[in-house]
Amino acid sequence: MAIIFFSSDASGEQVRKNLQTELPDLPIWNWQETDTATRQSARYAIAWNPPEDFFDGLDNLQAIFSVAAGVDHLLDHPSLPPEVPLARLEDAGMADKIAEYVLYGVLHAQRSFDHYRSKQALQEWDNSDREVHAADTTVGILGLGTIGRVVAKRLVSNNYHVKGWSRSQKTVEGIDFHAGTEGLPGFLDNLDTLVCLLPLTPDTHGIINKQLLEQLANGTFLINAARGKHVDTAALLEALESGKLRGALLDVTDPEPLPGNHPLWSHPAVLITPHVAGPTQMQESVRQIAANIKRAEAGSELTGLVDRVRGY
Ligand code: NAP
Ligand code: GLV
Repeated sequence: MAIIFFSSDASGEQVRKNLQTELPDLPIWNWQETDTATRQSARYAIAWNPPEDFFDGLDNLQAIFSVAAGVDHLLDHPSLPPEVPLARLEDAGMADKIAEYVLYGVLHAQRSFDHYRSKQALQEWDNSDREVHAADTTVGILGLGTIGRVVAKRLVSNNYHVKGWSRSQKTVEGIDFHAGTEGLPGFLDNLDTLVCLLPLTPDTHGIINKQLLEQLANGTFLINAARGKHVDTAALLEALESGKLRGALLDVTDPEPLPGNHPLWSHPAVLITPHVAGPTQMQESVRQIAANIKRAEAGSELTGLVDRVRGY
């Protein structure tokens, strides 16, 4: 009985040490070092974006753990075992990091840093009145799940007016909440900044498209810290050209990494970061996965279980 994990970089040894501290009695294997017998003995697999042959010979798995909040890479894996429970990370320290990231983008637009940046390029000292208060600024968050809720609370505590949208209806204190397809137009109405924190699923793929962008107020700022495929890039570029969007802060792109010469790299109103808004925090993630393995060993239900039909 063993745990097998996939790590694509040099952090593999550290992952093993941290896991071993949490689960001293279980053999833990880095997938790259396994043979047929160790693969057959693996009961738990830990991975995010493993190679195509990762699941070959892992015939006795009882659970698979994603080393990320999003499971789109795993659900797209051609040989993900269909019947094995799949669990994802829930927050594990990412939500606070993403809240900082979103606050940065919201401030960038509200305090006109985009404007001053363009003026700096022209060496123009423009101190005309551009004052907009946080309390007069509306931020809409697509996806009010584990991360979206933390982001929303951070913005509310900074005096922003916050709207949230998700599949099911909820009550979140201080947030103007909208649900489902029928709630989307009301959610999109009159936003200053739109933030995407949705999981990537068949329903949310390309959700930020021409039709959605047309429903925004002119001059809305976009922050995407979810997945690049949520956004139709051609529609995004068109909206930036028309002024529908005043700018965008993109942590994720389609494809990733963004290829050289892609028009987003050099667009003056676009800020790009290389998928670093909410990096996996190793210690907390290992603790969360280890706690779930202990639950499985005790016959208890796992936390963070993914519903494969809805895709998150
Ligand atoms: P989560 O807890 O599963 O929350 C997802 C939210 O999206 C829920 O509120 C859900 O609605 C809503 N949703 C899903 N499908 C929808 C649909 N079709 N229509 C309307 N709402 C829908 O996920 P999370 O932990 O907050 O993570 C969200 C995403 O953030 C991840 O999937 C990942 O893509 C991204 N992420 C990015 C980074 C980064 O570094 N850039 C780091 C971590 C995570 P219900 O509440 O009604 O189910
Ligand atoms: C990172 O993108 C995650 O999904 O955790």
